[in-house]
Amino acid sequence: MIVSCISYKGGVGKSTISQNVAVCLAHTGNKVVIVDADESQNSVYWSEKRDDKYQKIDVVKCTNDKKIAKQVSQLYNDYDFVIIDSPPSQSVIADKIILLSHLVLIPVTTKGGSEINTANQFIDQLENLAILKQKKIKAYFIVNEFNPRANMHNEFVEVLQEMDIPLLKSKLHARVAYGESNVLGIGAYEHPDKKAKAEIVAVANEINSILKEI
Ligand SMILES: Nc1ncnc2c1ncn2[C@@H]1O[C@H](COP(=O)(O)OP(=O)(O)OP(=O)(O)O)[C@@H](O)[C@H]1O
Ligand SMILES: [Mg+2]
Repeated sequence: MIVSCISYKGGVGKSTISQNVAVCLAHTGNKVVIVDADESQNSVYWSEKRDDKYQKIDVVKCTNDKKIAKQVSQLYNDYDFVIIDSPPSQSVIADKIILLSHLVLIPVTTKGGSEINTANQFIDQLENLAILKQKKIKAYFIVNEFNPRANMHNEFVEVLQEMDIPLLKSKLHARVAYGESNVLGIGAYEHPDKKAKAEIVAVANEINSILKEI
């Protein structure tokens, strides 16, 4: 299956979710590759820090919009899951990633700014692509860095629930474990923080259930 993490905003958790979902899926016996399509190459650097004692996850760079379709479809022959960590902008490569994916995950966070506008822009672009290519696109928002004690966060989730893209039931809370995992080349699944592990397992399970329906 091809699953992408994509948003037109930077710093919302595309790389964190790509890496953590990849680790979870690898631990349940899947052969997993991350395609790092972002010039900043966060997932490539993450994999360079990953110790051999952990489940193997290949990470390949592909930032070329003319090559990504071919590269991803070749990888799809050899892996159970191709996870695409995407660049933070609306671009030709971002459109191609959306069209290549069986499932598009759109991480959303709120700091009280323009997140809903950006989410609406994303919805518009998905509709445009679906019409242009006559293709059904399966996409879900996923809330990241959630703080249940912040009213603003709960209100944000309520607004998201009314939007035209469904929301994953599982959320990622703001946790030090994610930053540490990124630095160490691991996933929260492999981190001592059991709450982080449990929530990323819930995300991976939800993704698997969605993909089973395809
Ligand atoms: N749930 C979380 N809790 C705590 N820190 C987080 C969480 N999710 C992401 N972060 C941290 O926030 C920063 C941005 O996350 P990440 O790199 O995954 O975002 P991104 O969308 O890939 O960013 P970019 O657009 O720059 O590629 C990183 O330092 C990451 O460790
Ligand atoms: Mg990133």
